[in-house]
Parts: sequence; structure tokens; C-alpha cells
Amino acid sequence: MSQSVLDHLPRVIGHRGACGHAPENTLASIRKAAELGTTFIEIDVTLTADNIAVIQHDSDVDRCTNGSGPILLKTLAEIKKLDAGSWFTPEFAGERIPTLKEATIAIRELSLGLNLEIKPTNGWQIPTAEQVGRELLDYWPADVPLLLSSFNIEALTAIGSLLPEVPRGYLSVAIPPDWEKRLKEAGCASLHCEKEYVTKEKVAAVRSAGYRFLVYTVNDVDSAQQFLDWGVDAVITDFPDRLLKGLRSS
Ligand code: G3P
Ligand code: MG
Repeated sequence: MSQSVLDHLPRVIGHRGACGHAPENTLASIRKAAELGTTFIEIDVTLTADNIAVIQHDSDVDRCTNGSGPILLKTLAEIKKLDAGSWFTPEFAGERIPTLKEATIAIRELSLGLNLEIKPTNGWQIPTAEQVGRELLDYWPADVPLLLSSFNIEALTAIGSLLPEVPRGYLSVAIPPDWEKRLKEAGCASLHCEKEYVTKEKVAAVRSAGYRFLVYTVNDVDSAQQFLDWGVDAVITDFPDRLLKGLRSS
């Protein structure tokens, strides 16, 4: 595993699986992304009370399950009782929050690549990054493309010590004025920013400094095409089908 993952990154990455079509960060969402023709997905990982890496965006289970309260205070057994699908549509009733291990198995079976975003509960950055790193060392299949990312530099540094060969991306909403210093400090190979803040000039500056540029969350074809024309490497989208169908072939 190495920077070559970035050399083969597809232009379209499914956000939280394909979260425009299925409940985010579930196995159903991962499968939906593959079914729509996506070859690379982004999902978020955080920790349970018993130190198991699970796939979930928020630090609590309120928005995306029928339960409530912080994930970090619940055991995996408690989390597995929750319905993580009904909030989206009744068709997904009974969907569960997957562990990172379960997601890994699905991703491999579906021949996907993964952008794994480390999403620690605030205050739990280093334990989260270290546990995710240990789990990846334990079971991540060497032949499955992996790009790590986080908004948190401490988390990026901690996981970089455990998995120095896996490329890392620095996530930010706006492009920080000291983006280059931050990327260097965290040993990152890519910058991932929110679409509203991305300009043609910034893309050119980041790319000419030798870093990759990813943009989230881009759901309309015209915007995606414009970012790619500016030199962005990939766009992260809730609706990969729209972009796969509508983008000009490069
Ligand atoms: O990794 C891109 C994007 O997922 C970052 O923001 O809040 O959707 O995890 P968020
Ligand atoms: Mg994310």
C-alpha cells in the first residue's frame, strides 16, 4: 500500500457510501455505491465504549438510529441493537451500524477502494486514531486501496506513526492560509475541502505544490465537472450515479 492509491484514484467517490440513496455509513449504503458503479467510497469511523471501531458520522446515535446518546458511552452490543435504517426510509428497517471490520469485508467483496475518515469524539482523537490503526494493521487486506483522512491533525499524526505507508488526506472546510504547513506537519499527500471554499487559484496552488486535491460534497454534475476541469483529483458525492453518468469522459 502506498501513494500509488492516489495515482489511481477515480474521479468520483461515494460519500458515506452512497448516502443519497441509502442510510449513510451502513452496509446497505456501501452496497448501493457499488451497485451504482462507484469504485471508491468515503465512510466515517469512530469508537465504541469497548474500543471497537464502528462506521458512523456523528458522535451520538440520535440522528441516524432509533436510539440516543454518545457512541463513546455505548458498547458494541448496545450499538448493534439499534436500527440504523428506518430513519432513512422503511425499506432499510433493521440495518445496523457496521463495525470497521464488517465494512472492510464488504468493501473487499465489492472490489471497492476506501477513503476512511477518522471521526473521533472530541477529546478522543488519539485513542480513536490508534485503535483504528491497530485494527487496520490486523485485518486490512493489502490489495484493497486505502486513503485515510481526518479534520484532526493529532489523529492524522497518530495513525501515520502506525501506518506510515498509507496515504493521508487533511480535511478542512475552508482552505487554511497555512495549508502547506499543515499538510507537511501531518505528512499528508492530499487536501480535502468543502466545495463552497474551493477556487481555481487554490486548486492550482495546491496541485503545483505536489499535493492532491479532493472536494466534498458535490452533488451536481456541472459543479463536479468544473472542479475536475480546474485540476481537482476527485469529488466526493452523495449521488455517484449522477456524476458517473453526467461527467465528460476525461
Ligand atoms: O470526507 C469528506 C466529508 O465526509 C467530510 O465531512 O462531515 O461529511 O464527514 P463530513
Ligand atoms: Mg466524512
